Amino acid sequence: MKITILPGDGIGPEVTGEAVRILRAITAIHGHKLELVEKPIGGVAIKQTGSPLPAETLDACLAGDAVLLGAVGSPEYDSLPPSQRPEQGLLSLRRALGGFANLRPAISYEAIAAASPLREEVARGADILIVRELLGGLYFGEPRGFSGANGNSVASNTMSYSVAEVERVARIAFEAALKRRRKVTSVDKANVLETSQLWRQTVSRVALDYPLVALDHLYVDACAMHLITNPLKFDVIVTENLFGDILSDEAAAITGSLGMLPSASIGGLVDLYEPVHGSAPDIVGTGFANPFGAIASATMMLRYTMHLEQEADEIEEAIRVVLKAGYRTPDIDSGGMRYIATTSEIGQLVCDAVAEIADRRYAYHAV
Ligand code: NAD
Ligand code: IPM
Ligand code: MN
Repeated sequence: MKITILPGDGIGPEVTGEAVRILRAITAIHGHKLELVEKPIGGVAIKQTGSPLPAETLDACLAGDAVLLGAVGSPEYDSLPPSQRPEQGLLSLRRALGGFANLRPAISYEAIAAASPLREEVARGADILIVRELLGGLYFGEPRGFSGANGNSVASNTMSYSVAEVERVARIAFEAALKRRRKVTSVDKANVLETSQLWRQTVSRVALDYPLVALDHLYVDACAMHLITNPLKFDVIVTENLFGDILSDEAAAITGSLGMLPSASIGGLVDLYEPVHGSAPDIVGTGFANPFGAIASATMMLRYTMHLEQEADEIEEAIRVVLKAGYRTPDIDSGGMRYIATTSEIGQLVCDAVAEIADRRYAYHAV
């Protein structure tokens, strides 16, 4: 497998390093060949080349089997217009790779249920898959930009969706639900927006092809409320780009920390894997960034792109083992008998756990 690694900015390189460490460990254990190509994106790429997505980076991504990205963005670019910021590199990459369905699983792990800002009995057992439309809506709609003269400026963005754009992401959500608890909640603002009315009609029509899946609709404001009052009532959530961006950070907090959430962008030419969090300028360089979201993103890559189910299962088990043993980065610490670990200590612990799980499996097969 040939994977393009884009560490990016801030804590991106710190967490990506640990995801790569696990990929090396699991492929060595199972005897797979792993080829890694590292390229710049975001602020570091602007510094090196003047562009947040250099042609060389994009070419390498298109030539590989999958892309693993850390994060982009840095406060030093905050005064620049969107088109010149590090984030533009990520948006251009998403569009070029074509993955329109961004899967963001939010799982409340048993061992860290107490790290949730919600009462433990509310958060415990939450297991939500957010399917975020990734290539449409306000992020990419035209026209956009600034107009008007000084003191009288106007800025605008366009939200638009076609039936085809809604239908393809809705199908991904229903297919995912078939393998889960068979429930899809479609989230929109159909009481106000035409795009949302088209969204709702289209999702309802696609639902007719999936009689085994229960569909309900929520307005996005109410969804934000239901997520924190009763997260367990959700299985799959499907929603447009900006709503999905916002709701996935909220869902992440329910699980204990934004640092826990991975993502996969599928359905295009090359699949893209990245944690949901950003470059976290406030903790960069401390050595305490949570790498679980990045590690779980690499795990999703093994499952979705490489179809290595057993390898993915083993890393997921290893994550549970490490959490159960009490190791925590500060963001998921809830006090008590815990061991505060650095980013790289967590990475090493997950590798050790993976090795132990593999040993056990061989011992079992030997008997
Ligand atoms: P952020 O996700 O970087 O951080 C939000 C908060 O969560 C911060 O307090 C941070 O310390 C904490 N946090 C995030 N990831 C963590 C981790 N792995 N471990 C521990 N704590 C973690 O969001 P922000 O501060 O709003 O944005 C910072 C920059 O990142 C901006 O430039 C933004 O555009 C960019 N960003 C990039 C991505 C991406 O590359 N996919 C995603 C979101 C934000
Ligand atoms: C995310 C991020 C990105 C987004 C930004 C950095 C462009 O917030 O992946 O959630 O809004 O999609
Ligand atoms: Mn976001």
